[in-house]
Amino acid sequence: MCGIVGYIGSKDAKDTVLSGLQQLEYRGYDSAGIALVHDHEIKIYKDQGRVDHLREICNVSFSSNLGIGHTRWATHGIPNKLNSHPHISNNERFVLVHNGVIENYKKLKLTYLNDYKFYSETDTEIIANLIEYFSNQGKDTRDAVLTAISELEGSYALLVIDKKDTNKIYIAKNKTPLIVGTGESGITIASDVIPLAGHCKNYISLEDKTFGYVTSDEIHLFNYFNKEISFDMKQLDISSNAFGKGDYDHFMLKEIHEQPSIIRHLVQEYFDKEKINISTEIIQCIKNCTKINLVACGTSMYASYMAKYYFEKLCNIPSEVFVASELVYSSPLILDKPCFIYLSQSGETADSIAVMKKFMDKGFPSIAITNSVNSTMANLATYHLNIFAGKEIAVASTKAYIAQIVVCAILAKAVSGQKTNLKNNLSKAALAIEKILEDKILIKNIAKEIVKANDLFYIGRGIDYWVCLEAALKLKEISYIHTEAFSSGELKHGSIALIDQGVPVIAICTQEGTNSIVRSNLIETKSRGAKDIVFAMESMSEASDDFIIPNVAHYLAPIVSVVVCQLLAYYVATLKGNDVDKPKNLAKSVTVE
Ligand code: M6R
Repeated sequence: MCGIVGYIGSKDAKDTVLSGLQQLEYRGYDSAGIALVHDHEIKIYKDQGRVDHLREICNVSFSSNLGIGHTRWATHGIPNKLNSHPHISNNERFVLVHNGVIENYKKLKLTYLNDYKFYSETDTEIIANLIEYFSNQGKDTRDAVLTAISELEGSYALLVIDKKDTNKIYIAKNKTPLIVGTGESGITIASDVIPLAGHCKNYISLEDKTFGYVTSDEIHLFNYFNKEISFDMKQLDISSNAFGKGDYDHFMLKEIHEQPSIIRHLVQEYFDKEKINISTEIIQCIKNCTKINLVACGTSMYASYMAKYYFEKLCNIPSEVFVASELVYSSPLILDKPCFIYLSQSGETADSIAVMKKFMDKGFPSIAITNSVNSTMANLATYHLNIFAGKEIAVASTKAYIAQIVVCAILAKAVSGQKTNLKNNLSKAALAIEKILEDKILIKNIAKEIVKANDLFYIGRGIDYWVCLEAALKLKEISYIHTEAFSSGELKHGSIALIDQGVPVIAICTQEGTNSIVRSNLIETKSRGAKDIVFAMESMSEASDDFIIPNVAHYLAPIVSVVVCQLLAYYVATLKGNDVDKPKNLAKSVTVE
């Protein structure tokens, strides 16, 4: 969701900020804006639309050494120019950009800002005016910022400029990531590390409830008691090339192709010959528990079903999958000694973080399995495991799904101590995915047959049904075709009423025990006019099947069969001319509840 970039230094701030915002486009947004300091004035350009449009309207001839920019994913107020950031205080002295949500903004408005005029519907505009309010009481800017943020309830990453002192950017962070990077030509601040690549050598990821200011060569950080805090910078070891599309048309296609090498990389990271490199504390934490609660959203939740399967089958520990957004507002019966495992690509998903805090406050241990060692969830959890998938840019998650499943399989094996052929089977799965990628033209041809569909259904049972859930999510989020996943046995209990002439029904058949019954269920839909499509594992395939999935161990079938479905979604979306990497209405990191 929203992205922030700020820059102060000897380079042109406009270029640095706009290219940084462009690199954050993957997060999802609907408006963009920038504030540039020129000749002790602050010039603001903003509008609904893409960063390319902002570039056009910010067609300035001056150069500036300080700028702050923002991409907005609308929460409070529709996407339009007035609601776009930056926002400005009534006396035009304070200009700011904000990521996050201020929960008590209405109360703050009534308490302090009755005499102020508001031009937008946002929660953000109150922050600019609150800083002005406290500054008018005689506080210096640092103090005014501190007093204002101390009043805020909710999440925020903030960059603030003061027209009376244009050699500083004030910063503040709570519950929303903010990274500050230093380089030879200045300081860059952003919502994640990508805009720092190429400009910065070192960086710090701010802790919650930290504020301060940066100049072109200094960073000063304080806690909310106004005490300066010391900090260590980490080395930034990424090049700007790491975030390119390479020869691929889209990030999603690149990320799909990265999957075999991610599996191999995970084997290298987690296996030392046959021994598994996972800390004994994590293994003991799971061994000590009587139930595993898996908590996640979206694709990560669908990966959690496989985690449940591994923990139950290998470790004999009852496991349950929870939708984070439901669990946060419900109180399930928690018996004995539970362990909570959180799967999240970004490690920044607000719903999952809220659940993590809720159950950590009750004293239950948490293991975060994420793609970002610096994320909020990785830092907050009792233990963290990395899925080593590399930055995932496309909004539609692909490689994180298979990486999460692989890490959970390795973790379950480590906990169980069982001798399985996992390492070898993972290598075979990587080869199988490569074979699918070689045959992707066949999947493109299937995409041509279904591109005009208004509705589509995936069916399967057991493990295959869990893949259907992910396959349906992938197709709907980028093709905008209404797609549902059904456990094929459930069709007769109501959903089969939806089958009309020509509606595509795709069956996934990779499990010996359910293959024939799923096929029977597919025939039932075909008899009612459905267009039947089968993706089947080689060992159980039939001549008429539409795509043959190379044989792999049955418990790793999802990380292979899902690739067929990812490619199908990709080709349907490209055939429809959709913006594959940035689908409408969606954001990469869902940082609001
Ligand atoms: O970063 P997370 O894994 O916590 O994100 C969870 C979901 O928002 C995410 O998987 C979402 O469903 C993807 N767009 C799916 O492609």
